[in-house]
Amino acid sequence: MSLINQHGGDLDVIERRYNIPKDKLINFSGNVNPLGVPESIKNAIIENVDYICRYPDVNYLSLRKNISLYTNVNHEHIIPGNGATELISLFIKAISPKYTVIVSPSYSEYEKEIKLNNGKVKLFPLKEDNNFNLDINEFISSIPENTNMIVLCNPNNPTGTAINVFQLEILLKYCFDKNIYVMIDETYIEFTNIKKTFSAVSLISSYKNLFIIRGTSKFFAAPGLRFGYGLCSNTEILNKINSFKDPWSVNIFASIASEVMFKDTEYITKTRKLISEEREKIITELKQWKNIKTFETEANFILIKLLNKNITSDKIFKKLIGKKMVIRDASNFVFLGNSYLRFCFLLPSQNKMLLQHLKAIIEN
Ligand SMILES: Cc1ncc(COP(=O)(O)O)c(C=O)c1O
Repeated sequence: MSLINQHGGDLDVIERRYNIPKDKLINFSGNVNPLGVPESIKNAIIENVDYICRYPDVNYLSLRKNISLYTNVNHEHIIPGNGATELISLFIKAISPKYTVIVSPSYSEYEKEIKLNNGKVKLFPLKEDNNFNLDINEFISSIPENTNMIVLCNPNNPTGTAINVFQLEILLKYCFDKNIYVMIDETYIEFTNIKKTFSAVSLISSYKNLFIIRGTSKFFAAPGLRFGYGLCSNTEILNKINSFKDPWSVNIFASIASEVMFKDTEYITKTRKLISEEREKIITELKQWKNIKTFETEANFILIKLLNKNITSDKIFKKLIGKKMVIRDASNFVFLGNSYLRFCFLLPSQNKMLLQHLKAIIEN
């Protein structure tokens, strides 16, 4: 059995293989907010634990209204899901695209789900020479005639690159005219610099071919809650999804959490400040290192390339496990290889420790 599953370091597997209790591991591979789950969510769940004996509202009206206030999207255009993962699957099932273009390397679930629905996939490679940034005009001119769907992750996992809303609108206009659906996974959007606009949320009401996926696992540090949502103004698609979606797939604690989490401005502001500061500090430091190439990131993680052929990402992964730190060996992402690794930004002292160890391994 492989040590690393396709989603990165699995702490349970690492615990068994290396005999290190998983609570002692510092996880730089999960891309989860280091501040931990907000107290507001914890308190709301503790105070309402007795709701476990009830079914959630099958229409999730109040939950959708809470998301509406947070995103400024009409609640009729919001669909809750069991994590972003369920929405990826639901939207792909609803469209059943015969031919999809995925901007890559990216998150592996898109391709898996399309193939499960008997669709064909073309991977459009982001160019390393362009620091993995997408050239929108080059991309548009490469889209084959028979394409039904385009998938983008914004900011993109694992490259950290992001496309601004103006570029996205050029793509959406083109795709609208050609009857192509565009699915944008915005799982990491809240970590981006608030002075820049990457989210396509403002375009939801204008483009019926747009489906946005959001999660709460990363930004609100709540992957166990399994709570995500989709945004789309195409009622035909939404009705179709609702016709085959399992009822109550979102648990009642997600509904309870939604009452407080999106209003927790203190937590939201603190997270954005922390991640912005760490991102800037870490990029500045890494740029000074020998033997690596750093890619600018808009997300809460960074991809780096090892330039010394004698050091591979799996060797670094193993050496850091010895220090109880788990990073993402990015070698199993398509178009990358064993010289790429990714790690997310945690608390300043943890980041400092990781960089010290990483530098010692890379530069010696
Ligand atoms: C780009 C991206 N989308 C979706 C997910 C899954 O999110 P969720 O926990 O909300 O299902 C991940 C998890 O790593 C991810 O990186």
